[in-house]
Amino acid sequence: MITIRGLKKWFDTRRGRVEALRGIDLEIGEREFCVLLGPSGCGKTTTLRCVAGLERPDAGEIEIEGVTVNAPARRVYVPTEKRDIGMVFQSYAIWPHMNVFQNVAFPLVRGRKRFGKELVAEKVRRALHLVQLDGLEDRPATDLSGGQQQRVAMARAMVTEPKILLMDEPLSNLDARLREQMRVELKKITRAVGVTTLYVTHDQAEALSLGDRVCVMHGGEILQVAAPDEVYARPANIFVAEFVGEMNFVKAKIAAGSVECALGSLELPVPPAFAAAGAVTLAIRPEHVELAAADGASGPLVGTIASKNYLGDAALVEIEVNGVTLLAKLPGDTEIAVGQRAAVVLRPERWRVFAE
Ligand SMILES: Nc1ncnc2c1ncn2[C@@H]1O[C@H](COP(=O)(O)OP(=O)(O)O)[C@@H](O)[C@H]1O
Ligand SMILES: [Mg+2]
Repeated sequence: MITIRGLKKWFDTRRGRVEALRGIDLEIGEREFCVLLGPSGCGKTTTLRCVAGLERPDAGEIEIEGVTVNAPARRVYVPTEKRDIGMVFQSYAIWPHMNVFQNVAFPLVRGRKRFGKELVAEKVRRALHLVQLDGLEDRPATDLSGGQQQRVAMARAMVTEPKILLMDEPLSNLDARLREQMRVELKKITRAVGVTTLYVTHDQAEALSLGDRVCVMHGGEILQVAAPDEVYARPANIFVAEFVGEMNFVKAKIAAGSVECALGSLELPVPPAFAAAGAVTLAIRPEHVELAAADGASGPLVGTIASKNYLGDAALVEIEVNGVTLLAKLPGDTEIAVGQRAAVVLRPERWRVFAE
């Protein structure tokens, strides 16, 4: 379990102060897989490095398994090697002059606790089994593929059987297909071991598929922490809506009982908080933009197909309606061509409403 309270970190640089973390509050439960998601520079790595003890926060507190490891106001700082954590980075940090065994055994040989030779061998064997590299102990590290190196890094992080696993973009250097395979495997491994995991990525698909909870960050702050389906279906604000998945946005004005926008007058359930707001932004996911034959009596909104991007299982189609371009995600075998007219069906319950 990890508890982060009011965490702040700034860097004083020649160009002035960079506020990397502006007050992070986050609780990660026992055995939970929590993903920090956000664009480059939002403070993900800094958060992880503070938990690891590699960076000293300027304010706030961090607890690991009930022990305060950072509290600058009380001058508390527990060094990295005294924290019960394993770490995996984007650059695998595998030592090229060592073989697989030596790489994985490193934390056991150099760590605080000393183990007998046979116990080290047994722990390394178990760690390699976990990442499906059984029997590769003697292989030189340089003879491994990128995917295998990543597994060695995983085995090395897990060999001490830490309570906490910290991972910073560990799959970013792998090619797309391998990345997806490793994603599935990584989840299986962490679940099997029951380790509490804090995982950093800028890749929203990775975050949604891996996280028990996803924590969306922006500008050194947390914007939303929730289960992946919750973040996707009910983003807390426009930034989250735009960063996680694809989204269509339409500016609108709230009039008595209805919502007016370029698409016309829409009848939507407007949350009471927005009723007096006047101006709002409406949002709808591409998979919720439905198209129907233009000649039927299916609705007043008719548009023209402006582009079509065929993806196999799906087709992404841009349709222009009343000067608004909407992105629609349709089944791949939908027969529709650029220039064709189609009716657009936007179900009221599919819209999200945001402050302007
Ligand atoms: N050692 C450092 N010195 C100065 N600025 C830093 C340092 N480390 C990080 N930063 C700044 O802090 C902010 C957050 O960085 P980081 O945590 O690495 O973001 P992320 O991992 O989300 O891409 C960025 O603006 C970055 O430039
Ligand atoms: Mg980073």
